[in-house]
Amino acid sequence: MSMRLVTVFGGTGFLGRRVVRRLREHDFSLRIASRHPDRSRGFFGSGDPQLRAVGVDIHDERTIADALADAYGAVNAVSLTTVASENHDSRSAANQNMIAA
Ligand SMILES: NC(=O)c1ccc[n+]([C@@H]2O[C@H](COP(=O)([O-])OP(=O)(O)OC[C@H]3O[C@@H](n4cnc5c(N)ncnc54)[C@H](OP(=O)(O)O)[C@@H]3O)[C@@H](O)[C@H]2O)c1
Repeated sequence: MSMRLVTVFGGTGFLGRRVVRRLREHDFSLRIASRHPDRSRGFFGSGDPQLRAVGVDIHDERTIADALADAYGAVNAVSLTTVASENHDSRSAANQNMIAA
């Protein structure tokens, strides 16, 4: 486990971007987890080796586990409104995946 590595789910979102920037200011390394990791470059550039974008869908337990491997901490900044627009079963499964991870 790296004591300075934090995974931010939804790290490319409005809230997540601010969390990523604040943690980086405090010298943490970040895994920026979202369904479209390519968007991360537009927000954070590609010059910082301590920022790594990874593809995650919170409906997919395996991608969550991979994003958390060796991480010291995690922040969940995935939008409730996005997930809330999905059906109830899908929303429950996503929530349970995050809790299980
Ligand atoms: N915005 C505010 O002012 C504010 C204030 C207080 C609290 N909050 C809360 O903070 C949370 C985030 O809000 P936000 O405004 O930052 O939302 P947002 O801008 O829509 O960002 C959502 C983030 O979640 C990712 N995401 C969405 N669905 C996903 C999925 N199935 N798997 C993995 N990643 C997924 C999005 O990236 P991809 O689409 O690429 O996956 C994006 O990075 C919400 O719960 C909201 O209620 C927001």
